[in-house]
Amino acid sequence: MLLILPFYVLQFVYMVTSDCDTAPAVAGAFHNGSVTGPYSEGVVLRYLCSLAYDRVLGGSNYYSCSSGVWTGGNLICTLGSCGTVEPEPNSYIVGQAGHYVGETTTFRCYGGYDMNGDDLITCMADRRWSPEPPTCVKVRCPEFSTPDAQIFQDFSGVRNEFGSKNKITCTGGTVLQGPQYITCLANKTWSGSPSCTVPNCGNPPASYEPCTEVFYTDGNTNIGSQVEVICLENAVPSGTSPYLICSATGRWSHEYHCLCGCRHDCDGSVNIGPRNVTHGSEIDCPCPDGSHFKRKCLNGTLETKTFCSSTHPTTKLPVTHNITTLPDTYNRTPIMPTIDYELLLIAIITTCLLVCTIVITALSFFCCPSCKTRCTELHARCKLCVQDEKSKDNIPRDIENMTEVPLVAKA
Ligand SMILES: *[C@@H]1O[C@H](CO)[C@@H](O)[C@H](O)[C@H]1NC(C)=O
Ligand SMILES: *[C@@H]1O[C@H](CO)[C@@H](O)[C@H](O)[C@H]1NC(C)=O
Ligand SMILES: *[C@@H]1O[C@H](CO)[C@@H](O)[C@H](O)[C@H]1NC(C)=O
Ligand SMILES: *[C@@H]1O[C@H](CO)[C@@H](O)[C@H](O)[C@H]1NC(C)=O
Ligand SMILES: *[C@@H]1O[C@H](CO)[C@@H](O)[C@H](O)[C@H]1NC(C)=O
Repeated sequence: MLLILPFYVLQFVYMVTSDCDTAPAVAGAFHNGSVTGPYSEGVVLRYLCSLAYDRVLGGSNYYSCSSGVWTGGNLICTLGSCGTVEPEPNSYIVGQAGHYVGETTTFRCYGGYDMNGDDLITCMADRRWSPEPPTCVKVRCPEFSTPDAQIFQDFSGVRNEFGSKNKITCTGGTVLQGPQYITCLANKTWSGSPSCTVPNCGNPPASYEPCTEVFYTDGNTNIGSQVEVICLENAVPSGTSPYLICSATGRWSHEYHCLCGCRHDCDGSVNIGPRNVTHGSEIDCPCPDGSHFKRKCLNGTLETKTFCSSTHPTTKLPVTHNITTLPDTYNRTPIMPTIDYELLLIAIITTCLLVCTIVITALSFFCCPSCKTRCTELHARCKLCVQDEKSKDNIPRDIENMTEVPLVAKA
C-alpha cells in the first residue's frame, strides 16, 4: 500500500498540472522556448515578430502554459512595408508596383532617356528599397558635322542631348541640300543629314529627250560650266545657241531642244530603219490607183493627212490571200493593188498601237490613269473599226497575223 500511494499522488498531480504539447503558432513571430514541446505547466514564452514583420500594437506577446493551454498572448505580426516608391518624372513603373518586404518594383525610362541604375529594386527587411530607384537621363546624339557648314545649336541643357536642335548654315558659296534644322531623336540619331554642296545645274532638260545628245564640255554641271546640245539623225534644232552655261543661280542660261526626225514609213507599220526623214519635211507615198498621199514628220511622228482612197475597186482581197508572203513594202513597183487595203488597215492599227504606246509611256510617267483608259478605248475602237471593215468586205483576216506582215516583209 505504501508503495502504491505515491504513484496515485503523482498521477493526481499529473492530471491537474498537465503540460502543453506544442507552442502556439503566431504568423511572422518566433519565441524563446524550445523548438518542440512539450512545455511544462507555468512555462512562459516570449514571442517576437520576425525581422520582416511589424508588431501590431495592443496585444501581449507573453504566452503562459496553464492547465495544458496557452493563455495571455494575442500577438499579431504583419509583413513590413517599404511604402510605394514614386518614379522620378522621366521614368515609369511597369507591372505591379511592389510594397512589402521581399517584393520588387520594375522601372522603365521614357523614350529619349537612358537609365542610370538598376531597373529592378527590392524591398529589404530594413524597410528600405535596394538598390535606390533608378534615374533617367536624356540620351545624347553624336556631334553633327558636315563640310563647309556652320552649326549652331539651340539647347537648354547638355549639348547634343535628346531634343536639341542644330541649325546648319552653308559657307563658302555652297548651297544646302536637305533640311536646315535637325533635331536629336530618341534613338540617338539626328532627324536629317543635311550637307553643303557646290551649286549645280543638274542635267539640262534636253538630255532627257530622244535624238539629242549632250556633251559636257567641263565634265560637270557646276556653276560656270558649259554643255553643248547636239541634234541627232535628222533632228532640227530649236533654240538660239546649243551652248548652255550653268548660271550662278544654279539654272541653265537658256533652253535648247531638238525636234526629232522620223523613220521613212508609208504604211505606218514599223519603227525600223534610220530616222532619215527630217523634222518638218513630208514623204510622198504612192497609192495603187496611181495617186499619192503625204505624211509629214513632226518631232518624231509621221502625221497622216489622207491615206489611199479606201473605195478603190481593187482593195478587195482574195480569200486565199497569204498575207505573210507580201513583198517588201519599200520595193513595191508598182504596188500590188490587192494588198493596199490590207496595208491601210495595218496602218490604222499600228498607228493606234504606236500612239497608245507613246501616250501610255509618256503619261504613265506622270501617272494619269484616265489617259491610259482613254488610250485603251482608242485601241478598242481601232479594233472595232477593223472588224467593221472586215465584215463589210467579208474578208477573213487574222488581225494578229496582219501586224506581223511588215516585220516579215522587211526582214
Ligand atoms: C522567455 O523570456 C521571458 C522574458 O525574458 C522569460 O520570462 C521566460 O522564462 C523565457 N522562457 C524560456 C522558456 O526561456
Ligand atoms: C530613328 O528614329 C527615326 C524616327 O523615329 C527613324 O526615322 C530612323 O530610321 C531611326 N534611326 C535608326 C538608326 O533607328
Ligand atoms: C519632241 O518629242 C520628244 C519625245 O517625244 C519630247 O520629249 C519633246 O518635248 C518634243 N519637243 C517638242 C518641242 O514638242
Ligand atoms: C529612208 O530610208 C528608206 C529605207 O530605209 C528609203 O526607202 C527612203 O527612201 C529613205 N528616205 C529618204 C527621205 O531618204
Ligand atoms: C503562208 O505562206 C508561208 C510561206 O510560204 C507558209 O509557210 C504558210 O503556211 C502560209 N500560211 C497560210 C495561212 O497559208
